[in-house]
Order: sequence, then C-alpha cells, then structure tokens
Amino acid sequence: MSTNQPEWLDNAVFYEIYPQSFCDTNGDGIGDFNGIISKLDYIKELGCNAIWLNPCFASPFGDAGYDVSDYYSAAPRYGTNEDLKRLFEEVHNRDMHVLLDLVPGHTSVEHKWFKESLKAEHNEFTDRYVWTDSIWEEPQGMGCIRGISDRDGSCAVNFFSHQPALNYGFYKPDRPWQQSMDDEGPKATLEELKNIMRFWLGMGCDGFRVDMAGSLVKHDEDSKGTIALWQNVREFLDNEFPSAAMVSEWGEPDKSIQGGFHMDFLLHFGPSHYNDLFRCEEPFFSDRGKGDVSEFVAKYKENYEKSERKGLICIPSGNHDMDRLARSIHGDNLKIAFAFLLSMPGAPFIYYGDEIGMRYVENLVSVEGGYGRTGSRSPMQWDSSTNAGFSSAPKEKLYIPQDESADRPTAEAQLADKNSLYNEIKKLITIRQKHAALQSKGEIEFVYAEKNAYPLAYIRSAGDEKLLVVINPADREVSFDSNIMPKESIYSFGGTVSFADGKVTVSPKSAGYYKI
Ligand code: NOJ
Repeated sequence: MSTNQPEWLDNAVFYEIYPQSFCDTNGDGIGDFNGIISKLDYIKELGCNAIWLNPCFASPFGDAGYDVSDYYSAAPRYGTNEDLKRLFEEVHNRDMHVLLDLVPGHTSVEHKWFKESLKAEHNEFTDRYVWTDSIWEEPQGMGCIRGISDRDGSCAVNFFSHQPALNYGFYKPDRPWQQSMDDEGPKATLEELKNIMRFWLGMGCDGFRVDMAGSLVKHDEDSKGTIALWQNVREFLDNEFPSAAMVSEWGEPDKSIQGGFHMDFLLHFGPSHYNDLFRCEEPFFSDRGKGDVSEFVAKYKENYEKSERKGLICIPSGNHDMDRLARSIHGDNLKIAFAFLLSMPGAPFIYYGDEIGMRYVENLVSVEGGYGRTGSRSPMQWDSSTNAGFSSAPKEKLYIPQDESADRPTAEAQLADKNSLYNEIKKLITIRQKHAALQSKGEIEFVYAEKNAYPLAYIRSAGDEKLLVVINPADREVSFDSNIMPKESIYSFGGTVSFADGKVTVSPKSAGYYKI
C-alpha cells in the first residue's frame, strides 16, 4: 500500500490535549478552544510541533465526547466551528499541525441517525447501524441495545452500551440480518465517514487520530475487511487530501500500515508489553530496577519488522485512558523515561501535563464515563493562582477536581526551574530535532535489552549518523559487554556512562546519547 506520508510527520512531536481539562477562558469550569489557542505558545515553547485534540464534537458526553451526536458541529461548550477553524489557523501560524479525533465505530444514542434507525418503518438510516432482525436475537460477540424501539431487533454496541455500532458490514455474513461490506447500508456509512473527513480537512485540520480503527468491519477475524475499508479511505485521501496525516488507535502496526495509516499507537492493551515499561507492579522505568524490558523489545522488534522498519509505531507517555505516568514513575526517573520516549522511532506523544509530572488524582467519582480514567483527566496546573490558573470558576464547578497537594507541579514553576522535568523534556526535544537519526524514520537496532537486566541500549541511525542511546533507570550501577567507543556525547543525564575494557558501565539513574 503506497501512502503519501506528510513530511512533517518525520520530526513530529505530539502533544495530546484533552479539551475539557486544558484551559477555561469563559469561567464555566470546562476548557475551551480559546483556552487552547491561548496556550499554543506554551506547547510550541516546549518543542512540540503537533497536537492531537481529543473529540470536540457535539455529544451528550457519556464517554467524554467519544459518543458523538453530530460529527459536523463543535461541542458548544468548547466554542463554535468558527472558533475551531481559528484554532487550526493559529496552529498553522506557528508552523504546527493538528489532528482531530475521528470516532468512526459508533455514535451516541442521541445521534439523529440512531433515532431514525430506531423507527419501525424503513428509512435512510435503517441500515446505518448493526441491527439484528429480531429482538430475540442478539448480535454474537457484541453487546447490544434492545427493547427501546418500535423496530424489532437488537442493535450492536461498539464500546459502552450507549454507543451503537455503525454498520460497515460483516466480513463474511452468515445470518440474514448481517450485511456484507458491499451492501447499500455499509457503503452509505463509509461514504458518510468520508464526508465527515472532507468537512474537517476542508476546514483546515491536518488529519486524524482514529478511534478504535480496527473495530469497523464485524466478525473480521484477520482484519482483512477493515484493512480493505481503510484502503478505500486511503484512495479517497490520496485523491482529495494527499497531505492528510492518519494515526490509528489499532495497536497492530502491520495491519494499520496495510490500511494506509502513517502511524499506529503502541498501547496499554493487547500483547504489546507497553505496560512493562511504566505501568505494572515493577515497571522497567522504576528506580527499584526490578523490571524487565526484554519482552517489550522482542514485541517491538517483531512489529518493527512487520511494519517494514518504518517509523510507524508511536509510544505515548500516557493518554486519557491510562494512569498518569507519574503514578508509578517518580522524580528523576520521569526524566529518564522521557530520554527513552524522545529517542524512539515513530512520533512521540506527550499527554498534557505529563511534561510537568502531573499526578493521578486518587479516589475520584467517575466523570463523563471516565471511571478509573478520571484521575488522569484532571485540569491542567498552570500556575499558583486560583484553580492553578485553569479556570476562574468556583472550585466545585471544575470539570474534574484538581490535585490538592500543596506541592502539586505547575507549568509556571517548572518553566522557572532549570532542573525541572519540563526543561529536561524541552532539552530532549531540541536534541531530537537536531538529529535525523533520533527522529521518526531513523532506524533502530537494540544493543542490550536482556531479561530482568539493566540498562537498555540501542543504536539509532540515519544516513551517516549513528547514535547510541543508553538508559538506566535502576538505582544501581550496571554494565554490559561491548566494544563501542563513542566519538562524542550529545546528551547526558544523571551520572556517567563509561566505555572501557570492552564494557559499557552506567551510573545509577542515568541516560546518555552518544555519536558513534
Ligand atoms: C478509545 C478512546 O481512547 C476511549 O477514551 C474511548 O472510551 C473508547 N475508545 C470508545 O470510543
């Protein structure tokens, strides 16, 4: 599958914005587009040159906006379509790019398509969702909504039970109600998806992060149908919007690359071993040094080969679905984690607030379908003013309660402290931007990634440039056998890395990049 990869993706460093919690300018306790615009300089100053904006469309917010009720309208609480267009323009004025979050697999139950599809009489939207033809038959392998319509049938859901599944057909239909991908209903759904993309790309967004990209065609064991569907979308993009960037939430790079995506996330679900790094009982990046990076590396290598050694796999610092990085990784180890994240192929994604080490807020009541995810979605901590500068609303009106600790990190304090996490990340991004080998397409070869052992070492290369990266989160000196002799150090944190007597020896809690 040939894809036109937009050049800006080669050195993109993304910043994920959860719009509810970023910056509120109208005092209602919820973030808005104007707030995001007012903080673009902050994001640029950090070094990020691309943004992923979580869903910001009309929605009853039963799943924080992943339950869309109108794909063509911005959610009024964030502003108007015009405001969003202005956001795109302001982003571009700063030589940055922005991806919207496309949710193709399901809508809200409040979407007018769904309301029409509930009706007994046949209409334009009867086949927009996956329905069985009897209330007594449930769609196998999927949850369903049933007993709320005059229509006789059960409607499959794609995630929560208020998110009915859009109908892109079944790979191999085997029941009368299952439609094939070529039937009129599924074809119309796909055309509508393209219209939605056309609408926002035409307005100036640079592409999409695609929610649950692998979930569209049903009973599609090897994803052949879903891959074909995305190839169809790729053809449309190549014709009409060749510079649009497509990043999938799929977690299977070999499939997403075939579907014409430019990048895919390595995620906290599935067999990626991503959790071994930051989010398990003994994460590799904890200073206890009891973690194991080897299975992650083995899986990474497998995916890297399958995706043709392209910079396709994106490793996020976190996102709105997982625990904050700072829940399990602390102090200097956060810096070491970023020395890793910012020297890997693909585009690094920094979840808002991770750059200042924002903490997971414990014991919160679920907000808008967040459940355990709510603690990772609390409002950004900007400064020492009211509500950490997030909003002028009374505290109880804030979208989610903030971290109340007296020593909660703020952007203002970290900008002023040259040893802060923020400034270390800024330094790391500057270094990444200066060295093609460290960027998305630079190749990677692992030098040391042994079972239950430290450090982690790999070589990144592009053209004549070869860089060795050594990462030791453990609170003890470690070494491995190697005759590598570096020419120059381009980054170092913590203690020293020494190269002598056929050994590379690394001080406790240290990281370094070396020209070799
Ligand atoms: C993945 C999104 O990241 C998550 O927040 C959402 O709840 C589900 N998809 C359903 O859309």
